[in-house]
Amino acid sequence: MVRVVDLSKSYRTEASEPIHACDGVDFKMSRGEIVAVTGPSGSGKSTLLHLVGALDTPDAGTIEVAGERITGLKGRRLAEYRRRVGFVFQRFHLLPTLTATDNVIAPLLPYKVGFDKRAKARQLLDAVGLADRADSLPSKLSGGQQQRVAIARALINDPMLVLADEPTGNLDSQTGNDIIELLFGVRDRLGASLMIATHDPSLAARCDRVVRIRDGRIVEDTVSPAAGPVG
Ligand SMILES: Nc1ncnc2c1ncn2[C@@H]1O[C@H](COP(=O)(O)OP(=O)(O)OP(=O)(O)O)[C@@H](O)[C@H]1O
Ligand SMILES: [Mg+2]
Repeated sequence: MVRVVDLSKSYRTEASEPIHACDGVDFKMSRGEIVAVTGPSGSGKSTLLHLVGALDTPDAGTIEVAGERITGLKGRRLAEYRRRVGFVFQRFHLLPTLTATDNVIAPLLPYKVGFDKRAKARQLLDAVGLADRADSLPSKLSGGQQQRVAIARALINDPMLVLADEPTGNLDSQTGNDIIELLFGVRDRLGASLMIATHDPSLAARCDRVVRIRDGRIVEDTVSPAAGPVG
């Protein structure tokens, strides 16, 4: 499903040596697999997710998703790829002037689809426990509620790949659990693959595999003992 070969990305800052946020990463992931990406703050988890989601471009290396090479995609092909990926940002990135419902619909706004966008957005907000806040602006929502809107938004496209950056970072354990169920449900419902960057050991333990990175490199890649068969 995902194949990453020798992927590198450095950031140049004025003060210091370049930061190798992603440093020669090789990584494969099957369809329907759920992989936790763990590692200390600054190790490159978000960078890796952004590269796989084609939100950022690598300096070197290639990424293939569902047989398509996505490094180097441009214009309409790039937009099409992004539309098949659900991205949950570490810092939500909700549009401040749109209601929760409209934020959830936002990725579909430019497109004609064969279903009622608004009804589906309501359904997803219901699933994340925000049915009663569908008309609220982000500024009126708590951090955890904004995060749940961001998760609903990532699922509106029925994505084949979900990239979730600290999806439970701002949630209490009960809400966090509900969100995990919802995210994992995308695998059961759509056969989607998930990459989840997380500091939460209990979330990592529930994934099929745990990939640990440090200084932009994969230092450990373990199949969870509890993981079911991967198909
Ligand atoms: N746009 C940028 N410009 C400069 N440096 C950056 C940029 N984005 C990330 N970095 C640096 O790249 C390294 C990896 O950052 P990244 O955000 O991927 O880490 P992370 O593992 O997601 O951390 P956290 O757990 O805190 O979210 C860090 O040293 C960070 O400071
Ligand atoms: Mg991060």
